[in-house]
Amino acid sequence: MATMESLIGMVNRIQRACTVLGDYGGDTALPTLWEALPSVAVVGGQSSGKSSVLESIVGRDFLPRGSGIVTRRPLVLQLHKTEPGVQEYAEFLHLPKKKFTDFSNVRKEIQDETDRVTGKSKQISPIPIHLSIYSPNVVNLTLIDLPGLTKVAVEGQPESVVQEIESMVRSYVEKSCHYSGDLILFMETRDLQGFVSVFEIYATSIPGKFSFKYFISFASVPLIMDKFLVLGLQPNCLILAITPANQDLATSDAIKLSREVDPAGDRTFGVLTKLDLMDKGTDALDILEGRAYPLQHPWVGIVNRSQADINKNVDMIAARRREREFFAMSPDYGHLAGKMGSEYLAKLLSKHLESVIRTRVPGIIVLINRSIDELEAELDHLGRPVAIDSGAQLYTILELCRAFDRIFKEHLEGGRPGGDR
Ligand code: GDP
Ligand code: NA
Ligand code: MG
Repeated sequence: MATMESLIGMVNRIQRACTVLGDYGGDTALPTLWEALPSVAVVGGQSSGKSSVLESIVGRDFLPRGSGIVTRRPLVLQLHKTEPGVQEYAEFLHLPKKKFTDFSNVRKEIQDETDRVTGKSKQISPIPIHLSIYSPNVVNLTLIDLPGLTKVAVEGQPESVVQEIESMVRSYVEKSCHYSGDLILFMETRDLQGFVSVFEIYATSIPGKFSFKYFISFASVPLIMDKFLVLGLQPNCLILAITPANQDLATSDAIKLSREVDPAGDRTFGVLTKLDLMDKGTDALDILEGRAYPLQHPWVGIVNRSQADINKNVDMIAARRREREFFAMSPDYGHLAGKMGSEYLAKLLSKHLESVIRTRVPGIIVLINRSIDELEAELDHLGRPVAIDSGAQLYTILELCRAFDRIFKEHLEGGRPGGDR
């Protein structure tokens, strides 16, 4: 259904709006608002191929990659699918209005922006870089590139770096909410046929800033309790657990961490990179066929560019073709070729995100039936500002809801063919 794709596009837009909001107020704003919406984070050891996998999914060269600790700040990457024929471009949140059409400049800007915060040392920083790519050749997804998990600090890094990276990665993939610190707002829009659609925006606020009391005041208690249990406590960041095939899976940091934060495996996608680098006479069939380390979602094998390819500037189209050929011609993996490779992975993720969103929308519609006007009345009733900071924040979120409401209505009026249930 075409509308489902635009729905993911809408979610991306809210994420972006929330990101702007988060930056707007500095420390006291809502830096984690966008976390409530589906995204995909890569997790894995250093040089396991995380940045390379993201590049392949996007189908462009633009990330700093290489041996050692290259990714030193989280990169939140939003992919926006555009109409065919539209020129691809990239845009950074810290450089609004500057369109990058040369993707090697994107790589340079990521490096420079990393250095601006961390200095030219090997330091890491949890402050994310936000990048959007607009292209007819991508699927709508939000991807997060993260520094690699490591067991030892390298020269020039403090010992604490090992733990810092782990907690940074955790903070992206855990997504658990705490009762006392969460604000959930709902908004409702109606299309021309009176079909009600509701989107929720919720935030894990700074502990203590919002209390459960404020939360209850937004709607009646039974609705909220239901809603809170159904949605508020549901972590929703998909995890791409990256493990190189030329290493022992038993020692995989990606698998260890994802098992911890997602024991049921509902939102973990296992990705096996470097299949081309396995020792002669060995193969990864036990894993790829689901006998060893089975996950809820089947493992996807990948062949990225090698360092030699990168040095030779092998481009993405050639790399994808080589990857396809690798699987198609392989005596070991030929029978799995249709379910391997980075293009297949991108489709798999997009499909999964669609189903996540699809399952959420009807539940919200049933549970909540409040208008923005009512929310506004609640806010007045609370007497804004509640506390100076939180009042201002609530108000800003309300403004955001209004903006979103407008966008959503325009979107509906822009020709949705009939209802989409
Ligand atoms: P990250 O540190 O996890 O982000 O890993 P990178 O994407 O930076 O890759 C680390 C190094 O491994 C680079 O030199 C890549 O060229 C190389 N690499 C990644 N994936 C593969 C692969 O599937 N095959 C080969 N041969 N090399 C790979
Ligand atoms: Na690396
Ligand atoms: Mg990297």
